Amino acid sequence: MTPSDRKRLIAKHVRELSRDGRMQRSRNFIQHGSTSVYEHSVRVAYYSLSMADFLHLHRDRRELVRGALLHDYFLYDWHEKDKSHNLHGFRHPFTALRNAEADFTLSRRERNIILRHMFPLIPAPPTCLEGWIVCMVDKGCSVYEVIK
Ligand SMILES: [Fe+2]
Ligand SMILES: [Fe+2]
Repeated sequence: MTPSDRKRLIAKHVRELSRDGRMQRSRNFIQHGSTSVYEHSVRVAYYSLSMADFLHLHRDRRELVRGALLHDYFLYDWHEKDKSHNLHGFRHPFTALRNAEADFTLSRRERNIILRHMFPLIPAPPTCLEGWIVCMVDKGCSVYEVIK
């Protein structure tokens, strides 16, 4: 896949997830540094596709892109002091999954990508290759966003 193929595929899924759900709301929440959750999720989707190419993963990329775009679909500002935001690092995959299931019909792999992306903080590893890709790319993107 060329970089523009990747961007096109991501844009298509962002459109779908914005039409059927609340993807655009994640533009209002900061993830790391000055990066919004929306930008972070698009970045994770982009580099997940790059890694899938690097690994010669020939499976359908739909689940990888949707899982990456939804992995942080928790839809609140975790920097805001609020009891419900306690232990954000541990709880947000469950919140993201609950929100995503309210808005979309997810596949088993998509659910796995969202739920397991905080491994090893949450000691349950992903059980599919797509889940491992998003889990690792998420770490790399987060470090980049914090230090950039
Ligand atoms: Fe996350
Ligand atoms: Fe993330």
